[in-house]
Amino acid sequence: MVKKMYGFILFSVFALVLAACGSDADSSGKSKDESASDSGDSANDEVEIFSWWTGAGEEDGLLALIDLFEEKHPDIKIKNAAVAGGAGTNAKAVLATRMQGDDPPSTFQVHGGAELNEGWVAADKMEPLDDFYKENDLMDKFPDDLIDLVSKDGKIYSVPVDIHRGNVLFYNMKVFEENDIDVPKTFDEFIAAADKLQDAGITPLALGDKEGWPATQVLENILLGVLGPDDYNKLFAGEIEFDDKRVKKAIDQFDKMLDYVNDDHASRNWQDSAQLVANGEAAMINMGDWAKGYFNNDLDMETNKDFGYFAFPETDGNFVVITDTFGLPQGVDNPDNVKEFLKVLSSVEGQDAFNPLKGSIPARVDADKSKYDEYGNDAMDDFNDSRLVPSLAHGSAASEGFLTKVNQAVNIFVTQRDADNLIQALKSAAAEL
Ligand code: GAL
Repeated sequence: MVKKMYGFILFSVFALVLAACGSDADSSGKSKDESASDSGDSANDEVEIFSWWTGAGEEDGLLALIDLFEEKHPDIKIKNAAVAGGAGTNAKAVLATRMQGDDPPSTFQVHGGAELNEGWVAADKMEPLDDFYKENDLMDKFPDDLIDLVSKDGKIYSVPVDIHRGNVLFYNMKVFEENDIDVPKTFDEFIAAADKLQDAGITPLALGDKEGWPATQVLENILLGVLGPDDYNKLFAGEIEFDDKRVKKAIDQFDKMLDYVNDDHASRNWQDSAQLVANGEAAMINMGDWAKGYFNNDLDMETNKDFGYFAFPETDGNFVVITDTFGLPQGVDNPDNVKEFLKVLSSVEGQDAFNPLKGSIPARVDADKSKYDEYGNDAMDDFNDSRLVPSLAHGSAASEGFLTKVNQAVNIFVTQRDADNLIQALKSAAAEL
């Protein structure tokens, strides 16, 4: 526990430094006038929703949810306080500053697992929501594994809105067809396909690691493929050392894959790199299935016509879970209004407004499957039939303090390609576990 708190404090300090370094926080996507009126006297009645869902590929689901809420509660004002940056790159730092300053948003996006439990719950910043779950008949509406991810010491602390999958590769179907590529299931098949594509002048694997985490996401999937789900979990629980020879094997595999990415990966964010697949310059991308929402809604691509998908090589049968959840911070002015928002977010209607646009599947077990396309239905089946493992890159598998160090170490590796260095950095980061 002391160790965990230490990790949290370190994270907070880091976050404060980051925030002080000047992320231009208010990128809610609203005009100045709207923002000004948002911060008027009605602050006590409004519900401020804090997330990193702003801009293309991120915000469509949230905006649909807000519309639904406003239809049901025309009297309650919503303030959309989104801070741009994939995976919370900037938002998490802004949030940490606000939480430290006892200025919490009414509710905020937080991943189930360590990010919630070892972060905000351990720091005693969240209200338990057991009564909310009972009053709204939610106890049996979410899979048990998901309830576990949002619970600590027997109490529930947030409400999941979605389930994203992290171990997917999306591909340009025309490029695969024209180059006679079969979906690769193993690392060797992946490399063979990549060689063929490279010879044809196509970038095999799109990467956009300007924000760091997309490279960590690739590495976590390779680790899952090499170690299998049990030892993957043990690795992030500190029960397997990072100098284990299978970790070295995974890093070598990562190194090989990096030979096939676009040269300008360090200057692209996840959307920019997904565009390479959309326009056929690149063949594949490993991205959580928010990319599916981006392909459909922002790039007008059709599922299973313009782009296809398959499980990251050697991870079939596993589902890397990323779940976005919202809770009730301690000390907010308007807990009843916040609960009204959580009610809409947790309803079948709310989840079915949000998830088809977001690319994710509903967190509820009783959502309307007909609202989801073939990808969504496949993902729901896979979720039910697979071994579920938490994502590191998206906050569930280990504390934020550990993840921050891993992202830094992976970033250095992508430039220097020094496996021993990365192993040493991971070993020292493991002190946070
Ligand atoms: C994840 C989050 C997703 C999506 C993605 C890209 O961490 O869970 O909902 O927003 O980042 O920003």
